[in-house]
Amino acid sequence: MSENPATPADATPAAPEGPAGASAAPQTHPEQQTPPVRQTRHRGEPMFPDGTGPAADPAGSHHERRIRSFQPRRSRVSLSQADALRRLWPKWGLDIDGLSRIDLDELFDGLPVVLEIGFGMGEATAQMAAADPDTGILACDVHTPGQGNLLALAERNGLSNIRVANGDAIILLREMLAPASLAGLRVYFPDPWPKKRHHKRRLIQPEFLSLVTTRLAPGAIVHCATDWEPYAEQMLEVLSAEPTLENVHPDSGYAPRPDFRPLTKFEGQGLDKGHVVHDLLFRRRTD
Ligand SMILES: C[S@@+](CC[C@H](N)C(=O)[O-])C[C@H]1O[C@@H](n2cnc3c(N)ncnc32)[C@H](O)[C@@H]1O
Repeated sequence: MSENPATPADATPAAPEGPAGASAAPQTHPEQQTPPVRQTRHRGEPMFPDGTGPAADPAGSHHERRIRSFQPRRSRVSLSQADALRRLWPKWGLDIDGLSRIDLDELFDGLPVVLEIGFGMGEATAQMAAADPDTGILACDVHTPGQGNLLALAERNGLSNIRVANGDAIILLREMLAPASLAGLRVYFPDPWPKKRHHKRRLIQPEFLSLVTTRLAPGAIVHCATDWEPYAEQMLEVLSAEPTLENVHPDSGYAPRPDFRPLTKFEGQGLDKGHVVHDLLFRRRTD
C-alpha cells in the first residue's frame, strides 16, 4: 500500500508503458490518440500550461500550513493519460483552488451528488458511475495519472455523471461546497499511514467528520472501507462518536460488504496480502 501518492506538482509525462509509470492505466488505441505530448519539460515548467489540464498547485499561495493526508511524490503520466487530460479536463475537470463556490446543481444537471475522496486510478469510480447514472460523482484526488485514467474511462464508457476534482479534498469541502449539498461521501481504502507518528495524517479524524457532516444533506450516507484493521477500528470509533451520524448497522458496527461497491485496486492488493476488508456505512441524521 503506497503512502506516497502523487501530486500534480511533481508529475512528469512518461513513455506509455514505462516500467515505473502507471502501468495499470488502460491505453487508448493509437487511432484515438491526439498528437503526443512533449515528453521533456524544463524544470518548473507546468505540464499543462494555460489551463489545458489540472493545475500543479491549484490552491496556490493561500494554501495554509497543515498536516496533509497525502504526500507529494514524483509520478509519471502516460501519454494516453496526458492526452485524456488535455482533451477532457476543460469539460470534466476542476481545480480545487479554494476560491470559488461550486454550483453542484449546474455541474451535474440537478443530479444528487456523491463526493468520492481518493479515487486512485478510478476504475471503481467509473464502474459505480455506470451502474448508477442518476447519481453524479464528484471524484477528488491529487494523483495526476489517476485523473487522466478516470477521464479516459468516463469517455470510453460514455459516462456523463463524473467530474474530476484536482487537489486537497479538505479545501474542496471547506471552501467550495455549500452546506448540505452532498447526497453522500465515499472514502475507499484511504492511505492507512500505519506508523504511529503518521496517524495524524489519516483522513478519517473527528475534525474531518465535523467538516464533512456540515456538507451532507440529511439522510446522506458516509461509506468508508479499509483493509487496515487498526484504521477500521479508528473509523468505527470516530464515526460512531460523531453526533450527527448514525450507524446503518448498529448491531454489527461494520457493514456487510455492499454489492454496489466494486473491488478497488488497493483493496485487491490488500486481499492478496491476506488483509480483512471492513466497510462502514453511516447516515447523516435527519433530526
Ligand atoms: C490508498 S489510495 C486508494 C485509491 C482507491 N480508492 C483504491 O481503493 O484503489 C488513496 C488515495 O487517496 C488520495 N488522497 C489522500 N488524501 C487526499 C486528499 N486530502 N484529497 C484528495 N485525495 C486524497 C491519494 O492521492 C490516493 O490516490
